[in-house]
Amino acid sequence: MPQKPWDRLWTEVNLATMTGRSLGIIEDGAIASAGGRIAWVGREADLPAHRKATTPEVLRCGGAWLTPGFIDCHTHIVFGGDRTTDFRRRLRGESYEEIARAGGGIMSTVRATREASNDELASGAAVRAKELAAWGVTTIEVKSGYGLDLETELRMLEVAASLPGHLPVDISPTLLAAHTIPAEYKHRRSEYVRLIVDEIIPAAVGQGHATAVDAFCENIAFTPAETRTVLEAGIAAGLHGRLHADQLSDQGGGALAAAAGARSADHVEYLSPEGVGAMGAAEVSAVLLPGAAYTLGADRRPPVSALRRAGVNMALATDANPGSSPITNVGLILNLGCIQFGLTPGEALLGFTSAAAEVLALRGDRGTLEPGKRADFALWGVSDPAELCYWIGGSPLKSRVKDGVPTA
Ligand code: NIG
Ligand code: FE
Repeated sequence: MPQKPWDRLWTEVNLATMTGRSLGIIEDGAIASAGGRIAWVGREADLPAHRKATTPEVLRCGGAWLTPGFIDCHTHIVFGGDRTTDFRRRLRGESYEEIARAGGGIMSTVRATREASNDELASGAAVRAKELAAWGVTTIEVKSGYGLDLETELRMLEVAASLPGHLPVDISPTLLAAHTIPAEYKHRRSEYVRLIVDEIIPAAVGQGHATAVDAFCENIAFTPAETRTVLEAGIAAGLHGRLHADQLSDQGGGALAAAAGARSADHVEYLSPEGVGAMGAAEVSAVLLPGAAYTLGADRRPPVSALRRAGVNMALATDANPGSSPITNVGLILNLGCIQFGLTPGEALLGFTSAAAEVLALRGDRGTLEPGKRADFALWGVSDPAELCYWIGGSPLKSRVKDGVPTA
């Protein structure tokens, strides 16, 4: 069979392919794309001789490092307003839970989001998506969860799905109608759970944007039983399951995610040893979110050593949101992942690439540099990939490539 012509070839690059459980380094490498997919990857010395001459565009990278495009697998970048008031209150000593119980927190963002138009929501989210893109992000998971009514939850998913109209990026939208009990249902909690199960999940599936369902299982949000009802309904409707689990207290969230068939348990600062075991056995991923632990001044850390021993897939994400992680700087998250959560730089970088692809059920399509996978790359002006975790400063991104096309 004649081989497809290549569109573009990057040479003089060091590659972190992220294959396997290490960075999968190929020094003095080259990588080629054809039709938006990776056509060839290997050592430049092994490049078929005629290819260099026949590929229309050859980009010499002067020894830069090239990784898969980063995948931010947990964000809440669509929202109205901001939470500067909460920030001031926390600085004066009020806790995240106290502010939430007093009607601030997530509910204050819900009020601002319901009032915002789709255009307003989209332009705010596009700014944040561009900030992530400046850190080499090519795929972003975006949650709803600041609507908490049928209309606004669907509007949020629609806005998330529209972001590729603002910049070359792929979006994986997640329905998070179970983010907190909306104020109007405060004394009718079970009615809100029924609304999610009977109306919001079917409507979101019908709308066709959501790929996953998520819930916040916590004292200030949903009980384990309510959470399970929502997760199981979403999964039965064909969505992948995600869970905000054991962030502020041990709710048995890790075991719950495993029992309900979710793909990931996220945050997990209070995850118990039983939870780690259940996640390991059911192959549930952990998504580590050090931006939230940092912002809220958490005194607990996820049990990273136990997760590592149990062979749990560990992703790392920004959790970009106005309340608990107002952060779009991936470099800061990589740094916090290493310094505050004890990840190695290799684990942190896998956490934003192959491990994150696994969480989004996209591992067969992206997250590593392998022939056939999407040609989404980030090219970095560093001399060692660990530098991406080490410097806390501006982004060392030299070029971002989406579907084989350099975009920045
Ligand atoms: O991932 N934990 C719950 N949800 C978000 C915070 C949302 C907010 O405070 O607005 C999180 O940290
Ligand atoms: Fe979150």
